[in-house]
Amino acid sequence: MSDDLRTERKGQLLAVKDLPTLPKVLEEVTKLLEDPNSSSQQIAKLISRDQVLSAKVLKMVNSPIYGFPGRISTIQHALVLLGFNVIKGLIISSSVFELMNTSMVGLWEHSVGCAMACNIIAREAGFKEPEEYAVAGLLHDLGKVIVALQLPSAKEEIDTQVREWDLLYLEAEKKVLGFSHDRINAWVADHWNLPLNLKVGIAGHHRPVTAQHYPKMACVVHVGDFLVRTLEVGSGGDDLVPRLDPDALALLQLDLGQLDTVLDAMLLEIAGDGLSMGLG
Ligand SMILES: [Fe+2]
Ligand SMILES: [Fe+2]
Repeated sequence: MSDDLRTERKGQLLAVKDLPTLPKVLEEVTKLLEDPNSSSQQIAKLISRDQVLSAKVLKMVNSPIYGFPGRISTIQHALVLLGFNVIKGLIISSSVFELMNTSMVGLWEHSVGCAMACNIIAREAGFKEPEEYAVAGLLHDLGKVIVALQLPSAKEEIDTQVREWDLLYLEAEKKVLGFSHDRINAWVADHWNLPLNLKVGIAGHHRPVTAQHYPKMACVVHVGDFLVRTLEVGSGGDDLVPRLDPDALALLQLDLGQLDTVLDAMLLEIAGDGLSMGLG
């Protein structure tokens, strides 16, 4: 594929006027955060003004994925427990995934499953703030949604390639677009000013150990994506299980026994109500 075409596709994907608009409140909150005198009360107040958005955020933070099922009743409480990065990631995910059509419900389930996996892996690895890993898992295939929204004919072509040649979705994306969703993730992360650890998690999940900063974040998402595909929760766009990078496990200092523990915990949550986190 020529460089010209690749540049054109990137331009189409990032056509700012067409990119899903994030709730205005995010912009205001980001400004408020730059003010050292701002308090979490003020931020909570701002978010709470958008009642629909607040309800969605509260629904998500109360799912078992974030470790406080049914216990968070206010945005203020959510901010204190989970931090602004997590809340921002949740606001972005609800804004973007809501625009998907029903044909991509499988991707939503895959993403929620990956969030759950990342949370459990981060805890097993002994990392602080497993919720940040969970949000990276939730957003890790965002680029696939962006393509479906911005370049629907390319999305169809990718699906056809996957079906006809039994390709990984990632390989089909490269054939059709010249790049894959992890690259798109990096672009939109910059565009939406995502914190660096989340950017690395979503942009680096297919080549995790090469990440310069926060490689552990990328490794957790990589392993989470692998596990959720192994358990066939939802759909990442193809029926294949990509290779698990053993270096990612080594970097996380997880052995196969611990991976087994993670899988058991995932199965337990799936059997419970873990994946009921709806879009509505
Ligand atoms: Fe991916
Ligand atoms: Fe994925």
